[in-house]
Amino acid sequence: MTNIDGNTHIFGVVGNPVNHSFSPYIHNLLAAKLNINMAYIPLAVKKTNVDHLIDSLKTLNIYGCNVTVPYKVDVIKQLDVVDKKAILIGAVNTIKIVDQVAYGYNTDLDGIKKALEKQKVNLEGKTVLIIGAGGAAKAVAVMCGDANVKKLIIMNRTRKKAKELCETIKKSYEIDCEDASYEDTHIFGECQVAFQTTSIGMHPNLLSSPIKEPKYLSKLDFAMDIIYNPRETRFMKDMQEMGIKTINGLSMLYNQAISAFEIWQDITIDYEISELVYRDFVNYLDGLVD
Ligand code: ATR
Repeated sequence: MTNIDGNTHIFGVVGNPVNHSFSPYIHNLLAAKLNINMAYIPLAVKKTNVDHLIDSLKTLNIYGCNVTVPYKVDVIKQLDVVDKKAILIGAVNTIKIVDQVAYGYNTDLDGIKKALEKQKVNLEGKTVLIIGAGGAAKAVAVMCGDANVKKLIIMNRTRKKAKELCETIKKSYEIDCEDASYEDTHIFGECQVAFQTTSIGMHPNLLSSPIKEPKYLSKLDFAMDIIYNPRETRFMKDMQEMGIKTINGLSMLYNQAISAFEIWQDITIDYEISELVYRDFVNYLDGLVD
């Protein structure tokens, strides 16, 4: 942990609630490993106060923050400059303040990219299924657009949201994009990769999966669940039983933090240091009791 003194730069995570956030642990560990004089703190903000958020950060000379549920969309209108990928996703999770100018980014996008790179998964030319159409699905869909997939199939309980996300993607990328409902099992066969982006299967609902008949996904090469608690969701177990390689959302969570840290400090973190801190983070999680 950094020795806080008169020169310590303050960062934090804004949300409500923030007491379960792992970001303070990750960022303070990175700061200590890299010998950077900063402190990263939880900043719980009430809904009634969120309209003044950016002015408050500027007033207190806070250098940057992450933004989490439920403010990732609300903050956009208060920012001075918003990265165009964050606009496309419609959510900001990282803010940097330089000379009283507030910049907004979405590092969830980079987090997914880095998590896939680590697994050597290349999406180019693939047909990809996205299960869900919420905030996380939007970041996955933009990542797929950047990765030049052949086709996206977006499946969601509320079909309208899947349709809207398809429209957004088609406006920005020259890829085929189709919306679907959970009953459309016939289209599963053409998918090589699937991303599970809903909250179904999250602790404590360990037995739930959005996919009731996994056999239709047996042709997949790779599946990712963005949930990280539990480490192995029912969806992942179902895929593994058919021999499909899976990962959970832990690497994405960690790598969105790495990208935010890099933006704030204007540095590139060495892969070795990143891996070292990641192992420490996983050990820390292993020591926590649910
Ligand atoms: P996040 O930002 O984590 O993606 P979100 O924007 O609230 O959260 O999106 C949650 C996603 O999980 C949505 O796709 C949601 O489906 P709807 O758009 O139909 O609400 C999906 N989801 C959550 N609970 C669900 C449930 N019980 N059955 C089906 N889908 C569910």
